[in-house]
Amino acid sequence: LKKEAQSLIAAAGSPEELKQLRVKYLGKKGELTAVLRGMKDLSPEERPVVGSLANEVRSQLEQWMETKERELSESLLEARLKTEAVDVTLPAVSRPQGGIHPLSAVIEEIEDIFIGMGFTVAEGPEVELDSYNFEALNIPKDHPARDMQDSFYITPEILLRTHTSPVQVRTMEEREGQVPVKVICPGKVYRRDNDDATHSHQFTQVEGLVVDRGIAMSELHGILQEFAQKLFDMTLDTRLRPSYFPFTEPSVEMDISCVQCGGSGCRMCKQTGWIEILGAGMVHPRVLKGAGYDSERYTGFAFGMGPERIALLKYGIDDIRQFYTNDLKFLRQFQTL
Ligand code: PHE
Repeated sequence: LKKEAQSLIAAAGSPEELKQLRVKYLGKKGELTAVLRGMKDLSPEERPVVGSLANEVRSQLEQWMETKERELSESLLEARLKTEAVDVTLPAVSRPQGGIHPLSAVIEEIEDIFIGMGFTVAEGPEVELDSYNFEALNIPKDHPARDMQDSFYITPEILLRTHTSPVQVRTMEEREGQVPVKVICPGKVYRRDNDDATHSHQFTQVEGLVVDRGIAMSELHGILQEFAQKLFDMTLDTRLRPSYFPFTEPSVEMDISCVQCGGSGCRMCKQTGWIEILGAGMVHPRVLKGAGYDSERYTGFAFGMGPERIALLKYGIDDIRQFYTNDLKFLRQFQTL
């Protein structure tokens, strides 16, 4: 039995064959099992002899089977490694990679510059209450300034925000009269305009707000001058021109010396040497008071700019519709941003 088993085990060519041999000898009805079972019929003298012999055979068979099993699985693995080898010399499939949209890149750059000057970023809803979009910003129902910002109304009290300025008010309310407030608020805004090269019914703005004790116009100018130079990465002249916004007093618009000609006059600046980049002003005391700030103790300034306009200037783009039409030929030019 032992000899026969040895040669059968050696000849086994697969794990399945080996399993059958295990059943044949060591299974419940196996040949060796039968010998062990038969022990009860033996005389007391024969029993220990046959018993130890049978046990010896059993452990021998088990050892052979184990060795064989290991051999089989090793050769199986080797065979698999040979047939399933990966050919690392094959050229790789290159997958196209997306890029950052030029508008997003400009917004992120603006955020980074202000974060570097100690500002934090706040966001607010695009579907806004009339009371935040207009009333709290000193633009009552009958105010002619509402004409400047033709709006998409959802109900008489709810609209798509026409600027990011309501986030100023929401931020001040959240801070409950605490200073300093130093935030920028980027986001989408909506106006009922006909789309053309310079107008879009949806565009983006970045709003800024600083409120603290002793904030003056000089802080506004200093911070915005520093910002403009960082944004365009060059030395620039800036000037503030008087303007009007209902929520700031006094109100200004800031021009930078033309990034194209440096101020000598070219097509981009319409020969003036100056380019307007943002609106700003000292926060109107009525707005401060309405949002819970003591306007006798604290002052502040606010500004608002359009990333589209800045991207146009920075990258020499001539039609803002290009930002919204997802033309890959246009977008791929900015893939490295
Ligand atoms: N909200 C103004 C606009 O959309 C911009 C602005 C913001 C002006 C903050 C002054 C201060 O035109």
